[in-house]
Amino acid sequence: MQLSVLRRLLICAAVGVLAACARETPPVAVDVERAAPVIPRPNAVVIESGSFLVTSSTRVTFDARSEQAARYFTDLANRTTPFALTAKSAPAPRDGFIHFELLAAERAVNEEGYSLRITPQRVTISARDERGLFYGAMTLWQLLSATSGNEIALTAMTIEDAPRFRWRGLMLDSARHYQSPAFIKKLLDVMAWHKLNVLHWHLTDDQAWRLEIKKYPKLTSVGAWRVPAGPAAAADIDPVTGKPRLYGGFYSQAEVRELVAYAAARHITIVPEIEMPGHASAAIAAYPQLAASEKPLRSVPADWGVYPHLFDVDDATFAFFEDVLSEVIELFPSKYIHVGGDEAVKDQWRDASTVQAKMRELGLEDEHALQSWFIHRIEEMLNARGRQLIGWDEILEGGLAPNATVMSWRGVEGAIAAAQAGHDAVLAAGPTLYFDNRPLEAPRPGRGRIVSIKDVYAFDPAPAALTDAQRAHIIGVQANVWTE
Ligand code: ACM
Repeated sequence: MQLSVLRRLLICAAVGVLAACARETPPVAVDVERAAPVIPRPNAVVIESGSFLVTSSTRVTFDARSEQAARYFTDLANRTTPFALTAKSAPAPRDGFIHFELLAAERAVNEEGYSLRITPQRVTISARDERGLFYGAMTLWQLLSATSGNEIALTAMTIEDAPRFRWRGLMLDSARHYQSPAFIKKLLDVMAWHKLNVLHWHLTDDQAWRLEIKKYPKLTSVGAWRVPAGPAAAADIDPVTGKPRLYGGFYSQAEVRELVAYAAARHITIVPEIEMPGHASAAIAAYPQLAASEKPLRSVPADWGVYPHLFDVDDATFAFFEDVLSEVIELFPSKYIHVGGDEAVKDQWRDASTVQAKMRELGLEDEHALQSWFIHRIEEMLNARGRQLIGWDEILEGGLAPNATVMSWRGVEGAIAAAQAGHDAVLAAGPTLYFDNRPLEAPRPGRGRIVSIKDVYAFDPAPAALTDAQRAHIIGVQANVWTE
């Protein structure tokens, strides 16, 4: 994906998912969107008279705890404006300066909130927390980027802003296609510019397992490689092996650590997704003993679609997940670990005598109850290590694990059911928040449905079916970039 496409997608995410969710309409009648073209739209903008002139000699200062935001701002501004700003420590704002400060008494409504005050004399960004300061820096950078020239006059104004939701996510599917760490860094940058704070990283699926797990090297030596989809690829024979050429790649643990740190420096949490009990073909091709079926597949499938291969429900499979999740937890400091749970076609569990015997032993009435039992066991593993389980809305079927958070993808119904049952939920609702749908008419690539920026903008993150108390369980919104 080209970065321009990516930026459009993310603007779409930011405009629609975040700005549409802004708490209040700005209180002034002037054309605020023109005077303060910021995405997502801030909660409150008051336009004042006069302007502050930014020139090559404008100084940027920060108080003792505000260096990171000030430096990120100057580095970014220096790449996108004619200026060569430098940031220096200073205890208080001064005339002619852009100043960053952390204030215990800052009025921001939450820890991610900030105030940005532009007067003809100076610019001050203040927040209670480093995250708020960072978002204030991004707002100022967007204002600076909206115009060009050797001197930029910033309209005097006061912006008070804070996000409505604590989960402002984007999901990237790195299983169907591999993207380089350099690409993911660019994605993280573009997310940061638009105040998105969760990268949900879809790392395993039928078509690949992309995360290096030291204890199970075949997950990536076998599971990260496949023949590309389609007849042309199947006919592209590698003379060395006499078989179709393979395509793929994986993320080493060193690369993952670097990406997690890169994201954290931009106040983004990477939430890894390890799919179970379905979307398991690549893992099963690597370790056939994990399969529920007596006839497991032996190579990673080439084509798209949902495959029937399921993990087994025996103790050896849970020992495997205990090992895998231990390594995952070491790599990702995220409170949430995503375990998939979607689209697990139950045929193989129905057909396997050992699985049926296990169901009888556990007194479970059907395969949905078995999936619920499976996910509950995984939740116990995660909770014992201080982490929280999140999964696609199918984890509701057969009964939700006690502390689980639901990611609603089949519309908003999963989130409604979760919130009504007292569980937290994230709205990643198809089709509107599925950014593999086309934004415009053909001949654009993508799924057949047209989802315009306007549709995304109009997405309502507050389902009417919920009471205010239940709505408090909607912890955020997320757009999904699937890569088939
Ligand atoms: C999904 O789109 N299967 C979550």
